[in-house]
Amino acid sequence: MPQPDDWHVHLRDGELLKNVVQHTARSFSRAIVMPNLRPPITTTTLAEQYRQRIIKCLPGGVSFTPLMTIYLTDNTNSDDLKKGIHQGVITAAKLYPAHATTNADAGVTKIENIYPALKILSETGRPLLVHAEDASPSVDVFDREKIFLEQTLSPLRLKFPDLKIVVEHITTREAVDFVYKNNSHVAATITPHHLVINRNAMFQGGFRPHAYCLPVAKREEHRLALVEAAVSGESTFFLGTDSAPHTRSAKESDCGCAGIFSSPTALAVYAEVFEREGKIDRLADFASRFGAKFYNLPVNSKEIRLTKKEWKAPLEVAGLGEDRIRVFQGGQTLQWSLD
Ligand code: DOR
Ligand code: ZN
Repeated sequence: MPQPDDWHVHLRDGELLKNVVQHTARSFSRAIVMPNLRPPITTTTLAEQYRQRIIKCLPGGVSFTPLMTIYLTDNTNSDDLKKGIHQGVITAAKLYPAHATTNADAGVTKIENIYPALKILSETGRPLLVHAEDASPSVDVFDREKIFLEQTLSPLRLKFPDLKIVVEHITTREAVDFVYKNNSHVAATITPHHLVINRNAMFQGGFRPHAYCLPVAKREEHRLALVEAAVSGESTFFLGTDSAPHTRSAKESDCGCAGIFSSPTALAVYAEVFEREGKIDRLADFASRFGAKFYNLPVNSKEIRLTKKEWKAPLEVAGLGEDRIRVFQGGQTLQWSLD
């Protein structure tokens, strides 16, 4: 198959970046890099500097293209966004509703505040990437996605009918329906973990912080809707791991961070899901073609081969000093290997 791309990943910075980027670059040719650093990547200059730091951390001889995003805030400078797009630095813009997730404190408090930026995106055909959760304290954590789609994203579609939107890391049947209803301008990424776990995974025999991410996994019926969408052959559903490394101490704590690190195992997990559904022939479209199509980018010319051959995934990888990062399905025997 053509080499896949990861249309949603967290690569972090500093020592963590050094340790995790190789795991993404091993499987993927390009990746949409999330801007939720501390401080966030809010300008073209910051995005370009971050891009260079990522390239510097790549192991010798590895070719990998980070596609940069800008973190929208109440004060986003739309001229700067326009400049970043025209210079080829910025591929997309990310909307984090304020306080919705990790490092979202600087996120958008009122959607109207980013209308000027949305106008630029709409005019340039660049996608708005959405963390689609309403984080108001009055909204139940399991309803956050559904409420955001109803109350924020549906009206936004009407206001900006030409705006391309990616609903990131969808977790509900409602999100699948939203994508079908708004076909052609709206797409969604689907993570490996949301295809495999439901919310029970967080409470199996005790509290399991490594199964906690945002949006949080939902009921089984929703997982089934995601699997159906992923293998549907519909080009508006494509691969985005949301691989989000946090060290064990940051996860296994009084207030554990949200995020599941899947870069080393993601392709194998997706392949198992597609095979189980009898749709392995559709994996290449989902992983390597549909995302590129939505982003108006060429499909990668380099090819990779996934072979049905067991391998034992590492339980953990290096993180910060002695503090390691747990791998999604790490320690388990997986069925598909990347040659
Ligand atoms: O689980 C998550 N982790 N969801 C997000 O939206 C952010 C991410 C992170 O940055 O750790
Ligand atoms: Zn994410």
